[in-house]
Amino acid sequence: MSRRVRWLTHRPPAAHRTPVVEDGDVIDLRSDTVTQPTEEMRAAMARAEVGDDVYGEDPTVRALEERVADLLGHEAALFTPTGSMANVLAVRSLVGPGQEVLCESRAHIARAELGAHGALSGITMRTWIHPEGQVDLPTIRSLFAPDMGPFFVPTAAISVENTHNFAGGAVLPLADLRDLREFATGVGAGIHLDGARIWNAHVATGTPLREYGAVADVVSVCLSKGLGAPVGSLVVGSADAIAEARVQRKRMGGGMRQVGILAAAGLHALDHHVERLAEDHAHARLLAEACGVDPESVATNIVVVERPDAADFVARAREAGVLIATVGPTTVRLVTHLGVDRAAAEAAAKALSGL
Ligand SMILES: Cc1ncc(COP(=O)(O)O)c(C=O)c1O
Repeated sequence: MSRRVRWLTHRPPAAHRTPVVEDGDVIDLRSDTVTQPTEEMRAAMARAEVGDDVYGEDPTVRALEERVADLLGHEAALFTPTGSMANVLAVRSLVGPGQEVLCESRAHIARAELGAHGALSGITMRTWIHPEGQVDLPTIRSLFAPDMGPFFVPTAAISVENTHNFAGGAVLPLADLRDLREFATGVGAGIHLDGARIWNAHVATGTPLREYGAVADVVSVCLSKGLGAPVGSLVVGSADAIAEARVQRKRMGGGMRQVGILAAAGLHALDHHVERLAEDHAHARLLAEACGVDPESVATNIVVVERPDAADFVARAREAGVLIATVGPTTVRLVTHLGVDRAAAEAAAKALSGL
């Protein structure tokens, strides 16, 4: 366990700092974004057929976009460099400047995109609070604001996150999403699904991806989390919405050229890394038990541990060769992924239970 670690120094306060790996060999449970592409994925990237995607001439990107649109049961999809850009494009396809989107208080779009929806799209947000990040329809009904002309901000869309990152990888039940769909359709609001980890929800519940796709007007998905691609997300929706998102993506500087090299990693991940997410979920339950969290409460690959000594716990875990991160002053998060096999999960569980 010789891997040297330093701390991100530009992010106050100290209790929230996340260790940054410099070299060596530790078990890294900070996020499912830390995965390295496998040899097979690198080989698929190396042999990808490419073209200029701004001209719509990259066959590998087109294949990925068609495949993901079909998986979610929508007309079209657009490749983006990040999930954050996919979310910005998706939300602005439903919500105009001066309108609002409703979401859960710890949604990634509200907490972790640095105000992009306000700063870039002129959108405001109001939130409902649910301890497990779930849909709270009675509260959403009471928050919903119809268009009342020059008096109040109108609600144009409702955004849900499945799985919900900061609610510990919680899965949103399909029945709740369908009820929300019915409500939104009745009041003329759109639904955005932040499906950065929709693959985990699909594997954990067996719910077909199309069923999740059917409840939303626009979906964002990530290939660079549990699926293990180095880069890549997509916005999925109607042909019109995606055509407009393509224009907006270019405006934001996200039009990329021979990007099929990255899309090939995504196609490889869809072929080989979806079903294996069940292993990550089992490893997360193992780690939960080691940290005194009820394994039954862990739905997918994220374990959230409440500890008054969060920063100290993270530091001691680091000394024991396990990297974990704080996501709040008293909240620690562990995430399992492609780079953590059974032996590593067991070793991490042993080290953490000793703390
Ligand atoms: C739920 C959710 N949505 C969106 C994103 C944004 O993805 P990216 O880091 O690629 O911008 C993340 C990142 O962790 C996420 O957890």
